[in-house]
Amino acid sequence: MRRVDGGVGVSVSGLRHAYRSPTGPLPILDGVGFEVAPGGYCVLMGPSGSGKSTLLGLVGGLDRVQSGSVRVGSADLSSLAGDALAAYRRETVGFVFQHFGLLDSLTAAENVELACALAGVPAAARRTHAADLLAAVGLGDRTRHRPSHLSGGERQRVAMARALANGPSLLLADEPTGNLDEGSAEAVIRLLESFHDDRGCTLLVVTHNRALARRAAQRLRLVAGRVVPE
Ligand SMILES: Nc1ncnc2c1ncn2[C@@H]1O[C@H](COP(=O)(O)OP(=O)(O)OP(=O)(O)O)[C@@H](O)[C@H]1O
Ligand SMILES: [Mg+2]
Repeated sequence: MRRVDGGVGVSVSGLRHAYRSPTGPLPILDGVGFEVAPGGYCVLMGPSGSGKSTLLGLVGGLDRVQSGSVRVGSADLSSLAGDALAAYRRETVGFVFQHFGLLDSLTAAENVELACALAGVPAAARRTHAADLLAAVGLGDRTRHRPSHLSGGERQRVAMARALANGPSLLLADEPTGNLDEGSAEAVIRLLESFHDDRGCTLLVVTHNRALARRAAQRLRLVAGRVVPE
């Protein structure tokens, strides 16, 4: 695995975001500001529908910044679009989606390999790398399973292996322990923390899980469109 020498800092200020709806603009973020230090471990909490996934998607470059500023390391996301935003996602960010986002037409190994392929890793190297990553998350004996033939916790770990495939310096995880039993949740938390500790990446996790939240160095809460310290 490629070792990351220190994560990137995240700096968000005056961030506003609205979705289009049949009844007009639906404001979700209303001047969000916060900072996560390079290599920091930050948890974001808040009620369902408050905009946590929206915020994570903006920091991860999944959606365009409409108003305000999002800086990650030296990148100013409000000025990135198209290929530059795709390169940012590929080279800087590892994203663990709330609903996994795995392709069921591919095996666990192929899901991880796909991320490496997008980064231009040659076929033989990406096969070895995917196998190593899946072994690291305890799924060395499930590499040829399709996601629908894996348990929820196993899918979550495949999603983590994929998020780590290109050695991200920012790891974003959206409710990684949602729908997991206590034991699986603990295993997933430990994995996230080991990647953060061993590889130095910055970790930003959305969670409703209080046990996970207590372990982070920094806790934030999103309420009424704003981020406040927890
Ligand atoms: N593409 C979209 N178009 C219109 N409205 C959207 C869209 N995506 C999200 N929303 C709305 O924005 C609000 C925030 O959604 P978001 O998914 O960010 O919340 P969340 O805090 O992650 O919630 P949860 O804890 O349930 O995952 C919700 O009210 C949702 O209905
Ligand atoms: Mg969400």
